[in-house]
Amino acid sequence: MSTNVTVIGTGYVGLVTGVCLAHSGHSVTCVDVDKAKIEGLRKGVSPIFEPGIEDLIREGADSGRLTFATPADGWAPLIGDIVFVAVGTPQSDAGAADLSQVRAVVDALCDEADKDFVMVMKSTVPPGTGEALLRRHLSCAQADIAYVSNPEFLREGHAIDDWFAPDRIVLGSADPKALDAVTALYDDIESEVVRTDTASAETIKYASNAFLSTKISFVNEIANVCDCVGADIDQVAHGIGMDKRIGPDFLKAGIGYGGSCFPKDTHALDFISMLHGYEFRLLKSVIEVNSRQRLLPVLRLSRMLGGLEDRVIVILGLTFKPDTDDTREAPALEIVPLFLEEGAKVRMVDPMAPEVLIPGAERVEDVYDALAGADAVVLTTEWPQFTGLDWERVASLMSGSAVVFDGRNALDQKAVRAAGLRYVGVGRDGEHRGTVV
Ligand code: UGA
Repeated sequence: MSTNVTVIGTGYVGLVTGVCLAHSGHSVTCVDVDKAKIEGLRKGVSPIFEPGIEDLIREGADSGRLTFATPADGWAPLIGDIVFVAVGTPQSDAGAADLSQVRAVVDALCDEADKDFVMVMKSTVPPGTGEALLRRHLSCAQADIAYVSNPEFLREGHAIDDWFAPDRIVLGSADPKALDAVTALYDDIESEVVRTDTASAETIKYASNAFLSTKISFVNEIANVCDCVGADIDQVAHGIGMDKRIGPDFLKAGIGYGGSCFPKDTHALDFISMLHGYEFRLLKSVIEVNSRQRLLPVLRLSRMLGGLEDRVIVILGLTFKPDTDDTREAPALEIVPLFLEEGAKVRMVDPMAPEVLIPGAERVEDVYDALAGADAVVLTTEWPQFTGLDWERVASLMSGSAVVFDGRNALDQKAVRAAGLRYVGVGRDGEHRGTVV
């Protein structure tokens, strides 16, 4: 059955939601306040890089099922039977989730709605938000607005595949009819649907991201122990991951997690716990361990190069992971200023983030040009362009005793060493036995 759907927000979450629902046969209007974005989308240009998204934008436009609009002429004509809210909830200065964009959209919809509809919250909002929106906003509207929490679990770079093959679909509401209507939207997707109350759905989202962040910080702690005792984290992660209760995913050690989700969601969960008088000590440690991992390249290279003053350091990767153009909370953006503070000369290379500039650091287009005469190279994002470098050529370009710091444990350390370079990973080689950060 085809449903009239509105999706508000054309970022990573909203746009994927819109194009995928249109692909499933629903009639979708994607709305954004940014006119330039909407004009680009009408021409088939995606404002974000996400593999496969432009094909689905074209397909939706050709079928007539996908249209794009701004609320310039008011919200009422844009409201479908189901309205997804997928606007940003960035981190506030205090560490909380900043809900101002969500509130602005909900207020506008409540003020202008002239027909009943189901509001579906896709934006990541802290537990309790749905109840508060219902109490303070939705209940004041002229129209009857039902509320469903439907958190998303998409990974950037794999979002389309994740949409059509999710591990589960989570829906939370006190309104069974609204839950039925949203469940029906996902009819063509084979997946368990978890139907629960609003606060539990909201908490599932935060708990999932907090648990995945915990796994990463845990493996990073184990990697640091590996460095102390001369064990190898690849072997250790493989060995523990074989236990089905642990699982092999999210056990890659390195310079820590980044991106628009894990850092902000862990802080927001910590904040909301504190607000309720609860001290979430484990989560605080997860956040602290992640910050500490960022120091590793600076500490290790400073020691191995006998100081960083005037040393030329090449940073490979400015996005928070490969296959995305997203640089939010990317490790490199924290690590580069640390090198600059130590007096190093920094060159930065990235295939996908041309707009990123850091005062005092040089942007270089070609990776081999960047490596000429350099003292060290730091892999901050495991783009295939970097993991597949010709290490013989790299060694011929870099200075005599150059070091390769593999911040993602993604390089072939044998090939790097065979080329005559010094290699250092995170918990990978025992070379730093006795070194605790
Ligand atoms: C993450 C979750 O994986 C999604 O399920 C969730 O929907 C999304 O956040 C969100 O809340 O919107 P994403 O931020 O796109 O997705 O990226 P991930 O692939 O999960 O990676 C996050 C960070 O963790 C990256 O910086 C990555 O390099 C790092 N990471 C990941 C590790 O350091 N080690 C690992 O083993 C795995």
